Amino acid sequence: MEENSYEIRVAVPSDAAGIIKCMQNVMSEKIYLVSEIYLYTERGQKDILRNPDDLTLVTVFNGEIVGTMNIQRGFYKKNRHTANLGIAIVSEHRGKGIGKRMIENGIKWCRENGIIKLNLEVFSSNENAISLYKKLGFTLEGQRKGQFLVENSYVDDILMTIYPMEHKE
Ligand SMILES: CC(C)(COP(=O)(O)OP(=O)(O)OC[C@H]1O[C@@H](n2cnc3c(N)ncnc32)[C@H](O)[C@@H]1OP(=O)(O)O)[C@@H](O)C(=O)NCCC(=O)NCCS
Repeated sequence: MEENSYEIRVAVPSDAAGIIKCMQNVMSEKIYLVSEIYLYTERGQKDILRNPDDLTLVTVFNGEIVGTMNIQRGFYKKNRHTANLGIAIVSEHRGKGIGKRMIENGIKWCRENGIIKLNLEVFSSNENAISLYKKLGFTLEGQRKGQFLVENSYVDDILMTIYPMEHKE
C-alpha cells in the first residue's frame, strides 16, 4: 500500500456519512476517544462541515473515508484566538503518516486563519498519539489526574498545545 494512494483533502458536506462511519469505527474501539458513540446525525455533521470557522480534513482511500481531523475554533469573542483539534484514523490505516500529514495541514490552516493557540486533549495511555503530537511541536500544558476510566484503569487527561504562528515547517 503506497502512502501516495491516500488523498487528504478538505471535507465537503457530502462527506458527512463517511465521516460518521469513520468516527464510529474508531469510537467502537473504546480506548482512544471519550465518547463511544458518535452523536452527530448526517444533518448535524453537514452543519459542522458548512461552518467556515472550522476545518475538517478527510483522508480517502479507495473511495472510503479512513481518517478525519477536525479543528474547531473557539466560539466566543474571548476564545476565538484558540481552537481544539480532534483526529481519528481507522486502525488498518494507522502508522502510515496520515495523522502527521493531516495535523501539519491543520497547523498551516491555523496560521492562515489567525489561530494563535491550538489545543488538544489525549489520554495518557495513548502513547503513539502523544509521541506524534510531541514530534509535531505540541507541548504539555496540563494534566488532569485520573480524569477518565479506560479499560478498567484510570488515565490522565493530557492537555497539549501548539502556537501555530511560531511553528516552523
Ligand atoms: C493517533 C493517530 C491520529 C496518529 O496517526 P497515524 O497516521 O497513525 O500516525 P503517523 O503514521 O502519522 O505517525 C507519526 C508518528 O506517530 C507515532 N506513531 C504512530 N503510530 C505508531 C505506532 N503504531 N507505534 C509507535 N509510534 C507510532 C510515531 O511517533 C510516528 O512517527 P514516525 O513515523 O517518525 O515513527 C492515529 O493513530 C489514530 O487515529 N489513532 C486512534 C484514534 C486516536 O488516538 N485519536 C487521537 C485521540 S487524542
